[in-house]
Amino acid sequence: MRIEPAVAVVGHVAVPGDKSISHRAVLIGAIAEGDTHVRGFGRAGDTQASVDAVRALGIDVEDLAEDDLIVHGGELHSGGADCMNAGTLMRLLMGILAGRDGHFELAGDESLSSRPMERVAGPLRSMGAQIETTDGHAPLVVMGMPLHAIDYELPVASAQVKSAILLAGIAAEGATTVVEPTPTRDHTELMLEAAGARIQRRPTSVTVERSNLRLGEVEVPGDFSSAAPLFAAAALIPGSDLTVHDVGLNPRRTGLLDVLERMGARVSIFNRRRAGREPVGDVQVQYGQLAATEIGPGEIPSLVDELPLVALLAASAHGETVVRGAAELRLKESDRIEAVTDLLRAAGAHVRSREDGWTITGVPGRLRGGHAEARGDHRIAMLGAVVGLASREGVEVEGADSVAISFPGFYDLLDTLVKR
Ligand code: S3P
Repeated sequence: MRIEPAVAVVGHVAVPGDKSISHRAVLIGAIAEGDTHVRGFGRAGDTQASVDAVRALGIDVEDLAEDDLIVHGGELHSGGADCMNAGTLMRLLMGILAGRDGHFELAGDESLSSRPMERVAGPLRSMGAQIETTDGHAPLVVMGMPLHAIDYELPVASAQVKSAILLAGIAAEGATTVVEPTPTRDHTELMLEAAGARIQRRPTSVTVERSNLRLGEVEVPGDFSSAAPLFAAAALIPGSDLTVHDVGLNPRRTGLLDVLERMGARVSIFNRRRAGREPVGDVQVQYGQLAATEIGPGEIPSLVDELPLVALLAASAHGETVVRGAAELRLKESDRIEAVTDLLRAAGAHVRSREDGWTITGVPGRLRGGHAEARGDHRIAMLGAVVGLASREGVEVEGADSVAISFPGFYDLLDTLVKR
């Protein structure tokens, strides 16, 4: 797909429902008592994989509309589920299945089958789970077993690993505690609280006990990570003024807004409210002259999926930006450290990879543009599109359709905002 340069990005939009929360609504809805009505469901490749996975394991999910569904909670039955490209699905489902009766086989696509699964299987085994991986990867087999509680200190800051252990803890004997090195997204904790779970939260740890869950209703806010490419385009292109309405503002997700402000973009938030327990609001981003910044390990989880965009902002900012503590990016849908370095360099940026991030020498003004490879990674495809908008010559994005993993209508929405 060819993305032509934009004169500015202007307007008011909404984005599809949050991917992390949509996965959790389907998965927790599946094991909750009664019906869970999910409004604002972010239907996309990844979240549809969650719906199909629980259906394959015997759960009835009723589609009322594209963004509206009812999960009829019940017993999961033995069987196989294809998690496709969705790491969140596979890891959370491992936690759910570990303590339930049955024999479950989980598979994924080539990208998901190259991502580490022992980080979840290991702690679950110490709870009594029986899990076989393929050399630490998918495909894998979970034999449901009675579980007992553990105290677990996460070796890496990962919401997926934390969530898998908490979801196993819901079915385990005793009180399971997970300690985090750095706070990560807490959508699982918030949803378990809403479902009436016995859960106790402290600043850097959380404890759950065996609980019966009843969710009833979930209102899914707009996905901050889907709004992020739009925010980045607005911050980069002079004259831009963009508002995304009803977007999730969970403070453990919105690190990009702090970085945008620090770099010199203008950020305003209006109409703060809550969707269930999740904070929501309207976010306006206006262009500003950008200056370099530093990003370290403590900030990484709050913008982990936005780091490719941060690298782009830095490439057009005044000064040298260093991003450290982001080695986890090498284990995402692609090796995002190398994918971003190659993509931005091909567009004319001065970027060097580090083992755990990048060093970027910014040159204020537009990048040249050129050719971008999505590498089957939705976030890299969206990065390529934003580079195209903010470039002098435009960008040809190869594998542009990868955006459908999280945001199928991305290019159509861009068209409504872009002034050429
Ligand atoms: C997610 C957690 C993050 C994030 C991913 C979604 C989640 O992964 O990158 O896109 O929904 O819990 P890690 O937990 O592996 O950091």
